[in-house]
Amino acid sequence: MSPGIDDSLPCTFVIFGATGNLATNKLLPALYHLEMAARLSESLNVVAFSRRPWNDDEWREFMREVLADKVKDGVDTPVFKRFLARFSYQQGDLRDVASYEALAKRLPTADDCSNAVFYLAVKPAEFSAVIRNLEAAGLNKPRGRSRVVLEKPFGEDIESARMLNQLLHQHFDEEQIFRIDHFLGKETVQNLLVFRFANTLIEPLWNRNFIDHVQITVAESIGIEDRADYYDHAGALRDMLQNHLMQLLTVVAMEPPAALEADAMHDEKVKVLRSIRPIAKRAVHAHAIRAQYARGSIDGEPVPGYQQEVDVEPNSVTETFVAAKFYIDNWRWRGVPFYLRTGKRMPRQASMIAIRFRHPPQQLFRETPLETLEPNWILLSIQPEESMRMEIHVKQPGLDMDTRLMQMNASFLKTDEQTLDAYETLLLDVIEGDRSLFLRFDEIEWAWRVVDPILKHWTVEREYIPTYAAGSWGPADANRLFDSDDQTWRNEL
Ligand code: BG6
Repeated sequence: MSPGIDDSLPCTFVIFGATGNLATNKLLPALYHLEMAARLSESLNVVAFSRRPWNDDEWREFMREVLADKVKDGVDTPVFKRFLARFSYQQGDLRDVASYEALAKRLPTADDCSNAVFYLAVKPAEFSAVIRNLEAAGLNKPRGRSRVVLEKPFGEDIESARMLNQLLHQHFDEEQIFRIDHFLGKETVQNLLVFRFANTLIEPLWNRNFIDHVQITVAESIGIEDRADYYDHAGALRDMLQNHLMQLLTVVAMEPPAALEADAMHDEKVKVLRSIRPIAKRAVHAHAIRAQYARGSIDGEPVPGYQQEVDVEPNSVTETFVAAKFYIDNWRWRGVPFYLRTGKRMPRQASMIAIRFRHPPQQLFRETPLETLEPNWILLSIQPEESMRMEIHVKQPGLDMDTRLMQMNASFLKTDEQTLDAYETLLLDVIEGDRSLFLRFDEIEWAWRVVDPILKHWTVEREYIPTYAAGSWGPADANRLFDSDDQTWRNEL
């Protein structure tokens, strides 16, 4: 071991699928932000693995191009040069073991520092080939030290998720496996834990006695970009709801963990998932709706429909929008509906958790001009703005008994603070070996169990899918999920 190298930390970070969408949009910018923040150890090297027949210089040129408009200070700074110098390029085929043997030769020897992170930024269909080939080339050793990172969706249903997990366990120890759901790295989601468990004011109200319902919306204005080969088989239920939205639900609903450490958190989240009322086959229609975007316009610009996107199969019935209703049958939440929805090509990017409180028990103001008052809301905005707001009533100054709705805004970003994407936190956690924001397999398994009836039902209904115009908030049909007439989707903060 060379002096000055911490042998608990990885010395090599390998990105499989380095030229892909995830690597270029998320991983490379996040690693660069860690470089800027001086959080990458000097000894860390990054190997980009991809099929393209490039050498190191060609790869670095590619990086300069793809990062040019993503890094704030540009690509001509000393920090960026230092960052580029960490990278080397390994041309290879994910399914060919010889490529992994060539990769192994590139990695430092055990005498130096042989710990590595292998990040699978590849299509889920490639996961098992990569895992098998890592083993075949001896790259899963030393066991317990090297780490493997897998993106969601983990499997495409409960059975395939179990098989994938078994395969992983044949070659890696649990401590080596990082199942990522990047929503857990987002500031507002982490802040939700602080909001709930560091403020005594909130916790007594956080239950069925005071909360009428919860809405979780993740709306995106982007379409499927160039990801049809993945997305057309996945759809919104697998791509977003089973993982990102389900994780948001667990963080809203979980009990306080015994400690803020990985297993205690996982235990509480699993309890929530286990308490979700299973959806009976005949009730799927009442609990879930799906749709696909048709042509429309966003910000005044015409955008194509899903069927017109490159590489989407003709007459595909893949859903790009899903809305669903769940009940959590435990003491805290029984009877409170959780409405979840997500869609592509909606009017704008807007992700938020909106919690509506009950009406006051007595309508004291009925005889005044106020008549019915809007109930209180707590709004946790995840994107594009990160904020927490609470809507409360105050009396308007003047002679009449009139109120106005005020928003108490606890936006936590100060003007000189920069918001980071979720991946910075998570990549640092992988490097440092902190698994609390990663998923334990039983969380994934239970989340599949929750969506399984919907998935099965939609798999056989392949004839027809309703559409919504791109640039709209999804199909009007999504309103039929609500339990009462005074509940509606909240699109604005
Ligand atoms: C990914 C999905 O996990 O999350 C994408 O595969 C989606 O379809 C993305 O666009 C949204 O994440 P973010 O952080 O860009 O909002």
